[in-house]
Amino acid sequence: MKHFPVLLNESIKALSVKKSGNYVDCTFGRGGHSKKILSLLSTGKLTSFDLDHESEKSAAGIKNSNFNFIRANFSEVSSFFQNSSLDGAIIDCGVSSPQIDQPERGFSFQKDGPLDMRFGDSTSKTCYDIVNFYSEENLAKIFKQYGEEKQSKKIAKAICVQREKKKFETTMQLAIFIKEIKTIKEKKNPATKVFQALRMEVNSEIDNLHKCLISLKKLMKKGGKIIVISFHSIEDRLVKNLFKHKEKIHEKSIPIKNDSSPEFKVSKLIIPSDQEVEMNVRSRSARMRIITKL
Ligand SMILES: C[S@@+](CC[C@H](N)C(=O)[O-])C[C@H]1O[C@@H](n2cnc3c(N)ncnc32)[C@H](O)[C@@H]1O
Repeated sequence: MKHFPVLLNESIKALSVKKSGNYVDCTFGRGGHSKKILSLLSTGKLTSFDLDHESEKSAAGIKNSNFNFIRANFSEVSSFFQNSSLDGAIIDCGVSSPQIDQPERGFSFQKDGPLDMRFGDSTSKTCYDIVNFYSEENLAKIFKQYGEEKQSKKIAKAICVQREKKKFETTMQLAIFIKEIKTIKEKKNPATKVFQALRMEVNSEIDNLHKCLISLKKLMKKGGKIIVISFHSIEDRLVKNLFKHKEKIHEKSIPIKNDSSPEFKVSKLIIPSDQEVEMNVRSRSARMRIITKL
């Protein structure tokens, strides 16, 4: 399936790209957002990150001296820039359609592949390791926390019993097993939530996002914009909590008046239009925030 960049026009408009500005795309994917930013630069620079070899190949096709691709984890963004040097950054969280469509990457519950799910080979832990070796409690915890799966405990328990007889090897084997275990029926494929949870755990997605946002706080110039497109309530909560202006807390836990002025402004949630969702069903759960350094 072709990858449609989510909230493309809205996010690029929100970045208010300056022709000579310095920008970062933390999640190149197939370059949907990157190419649009590049088209607006004259002497400015764009540096794009991704962990995926396929993204690196795709980026190699961009012949533009304003562009640089780095195959690295975006959690390491601070190693590449000085404080107060960026005019804008964009993070489009999660997995891309081409990654899901390649069965050998192990993201799909509709096409058979190995239990992998890594965005890049620098990540040592695979989905196989988690499904076959995590404790029942840990499995239940990630299914609930990252997948918001109502039957998390039941599925975790059943997996642990089954793997004693035979280890889980492939995505279809796991997806069919989950379908048989789940008693509460839903509109979506029964494996959707568990697969999402496993992917987030394999790639330490929340931890990496947290590290990246902490770094970006320092790397942005005044007036600089950070655009975060997320697909999970945990991600959005993280964004809100990290950037909102906090009340100072007195030792006796009584909030006291905070005279310091806020450092960042966080926008309300922006969601895709009905037309976008109709054209690209993956955008259905996307939400965007614009963070401005004041
Ligand atoms: C939703 S896709 C981005 C799509 C992109 N905006 C486009 O228009 O083509 C997310 C991408 O982020 C990459 N990614 C996820 N976590 C990452 C991390 N911690 N560091 C670097 N890249 C990451 C994935 O490999 C994937 O290619």
